[in-house]
Amino acid sequence: MCGIVGYNGKEKNTLHILIDGLKALEYRGYDSSGIAFKTDKIETIKSIGKISELESKIDFTTNSNTGIGHTRWATHGKVTTSNSHPHTVGKVTIVHNGIIENFNEIKKELLNKNYKFKSETDTEVACALIDYYYNKTNDIKKALTLFSDKVRGSYALGIMVENDNNIYAIRKDSPLIIAKNETGNFIASDAIAVSKYADEIMYLEENQIAEVSKDSITLYDKDLKEVKTNFKNIDKSLENTDKCGFDHYMLKEIHEQPKVFRDTVSPYLENNIDSLLETMPDFTKYNRIDIVACGSAYHAGLVGKNLIEEYADVPVNVEVASEYRYKKNFYDDKTLVILVSQSGETADTLAALRKAKNDNIDTLAIVNVENSTIARESEILLKIRAGREIAVATTKAYSAQVAMLSLIALNLASRKGNIDNNEMIEILKDIKELPVKLENLIDKEDYKTIAEAIRDKEDIFFIGRGIDYAMSMEGSLKLKEISYINSNAYAAGELKHGTISLVEDGTPVIGILTEEFLKEKTISNVEEVKSRGATTIGIINSDSNYNFDYKVEIPKVHKLLQPLLTVVPLQLIAYEVAKLRNCDIDKPKNLAKSVTVE
Ligand code: AGP
Repeated sequence: MCGIVGYNGKEKNTLHILIDGLKALEYRGYDSSGIAFKTDKIETIKSIGKISELESKIDFTTNSNTGIGHTRWATHGKVTTSNSHPHTVGKVTIVHNGIIENFNEIKKELLNKNYKFKSETDTEVACALIDYYYNKTNDIKKALTLFSDKVRGSYALGIMVENDNNIYAIRKDSPLIIAKNETGNFIASDAIAVSKYADEIMYLEENQIAEVSKDSITLYDKDLKEVKTNFKNIDKSLENTDKCGFDHYMLKEIHEQPKVFRDTVSPYLENNIDSLLETMPDFTKYNRIDIVACGSAYHAGLVGKNLIEEYADVPVNVEVASEYRYKKNFYDDKTLVILVSQSGETADTLAALRKAKNDNIDTLAIVNVENSTIARESEILLKIRAGREIAVATTKAYSAQVAMLSLIALNLASRKGNIDNNEMIEILKDIKELPVKLENLIDKEDYKTIAEAIRDKEDIFFIGRGIDYAMSMEGSLKLKEISYINSNAYAAGELKHGTISLVEDGTPVIGILTEEFLKEKTISNVEEVKSRGATTIGIINSDSNYNFDYKVEIPKVHKLLQPLLTVVPLQLIAYEVAKLRNCDIDKPKNLAKSVTVE
């Protein structure tokens, strides 16, 4: 999703700093980019397509100390140069992340005041509104407070003003950081954009205004009272974006899963269950859990539901955050709301968290990015340790989310006495052995052969029951997001209630069969599609014996851990298919890594 970077300092190579920042933000997903910088005036260069297109338009010998840059992921208006940011209206130039919801009504008012618009964007309207207030007040900070009173929606803004040597920043419901080093100051939508240059960082709070000069950063609250800054050292490891010899980040990240599993689990669980009970809070007071998330994180939640309900006997309601935030929720003081998010910035998940908090419901976040808004605002944080995930299609972060939900199920089940000693020994043994099993599974050769069988198909189905249905949903999403093949996940027993009419000769159906007591039922459903000509692909435990056209055998482990193995073939089949189809695997079209608008 859109990214912002800005610099104001003694260095004259602002153009390089901005481009480096924009490149670091590429992983978020974008379709155009642009920069504005000060020479004797404010100059703007924009381009659609890759940042290399923008670079080719820039004369890097130009000296400038001050500038802002942007990667745009189109929301209002097509992917065109005129819709790209920065936008300038009157004396004001801005870059914007977020959505101004009432931009149409504001646009009408501004048209009546003789403002003219060159783009279809909400951002240009925001820019004109700031210019309007600036002309009225002759004070940019006052103009920004008036702006925030007027607009509805979300925004992180980087702002430059004619004949003013500062840059300004303000945010609401969209993240923004400020950062500094000895020679200058930065703004950015995430730390990665400036970690190469900056030494210290802090997160701008809602509706705070940052005044960023060449040698100082001053923060103001909504009433324009000065507030203290609180800088911390920046995490320099963010800079490391080496693919380590892998063709794609996605493949590298799939290969990192054994380590990620160890890193995520070991702070909570060492050699015995007592370590888990000492390090993870007691959740037994809750008689209901709501898991709220989007996309793959939602699918991880569905796995969590299966495990928590089965082992801890607590009803779990899993909901997509964009629905949960607007519906009537039947929670009370015995409900725990769990928010699951890799980025910790997903707008809908954040809104669901704020809604629950506002209703005085206890909240717990399972988040990868430390210091993200969801991580900071939730009451309890269980941090997964997936490290930086660059590929838009999540793999290792999804697995780490599932691992954390498995630990929550184990924690609850153990406290409730639902797991006997022998079963506990089995689980602990499987946890220890899982990284090696993951490594062996990742290294299998089967995925390329299956990918060859799928690559030219138009429709694919994933079927499973129970936890295998939750895995089908993740497998289907992974395939469609990176290979652009239409795929659907169905509860295996549901297929014959309509969808089976789409199955014809050669339609691939991927059956997932790891649920012990449901396997035979799913096999019957695989038979049904086979009779209609489907090409069947089985993801099965090593002890299941059934004749598929293709199959991947995965080791059988305790059910609490099984999904962590099941997902590997699903990820690698999707990866190999996308590779055969020459897709842009790490940056699939139309997608963004961090979805900061609703
Ligand atoms: C999955 O591959 C996607 N990139 C997407 O569904 C993602 O899981 C979703 O947008 C949620 O993101 P989050 O975990 O950062 O909140």
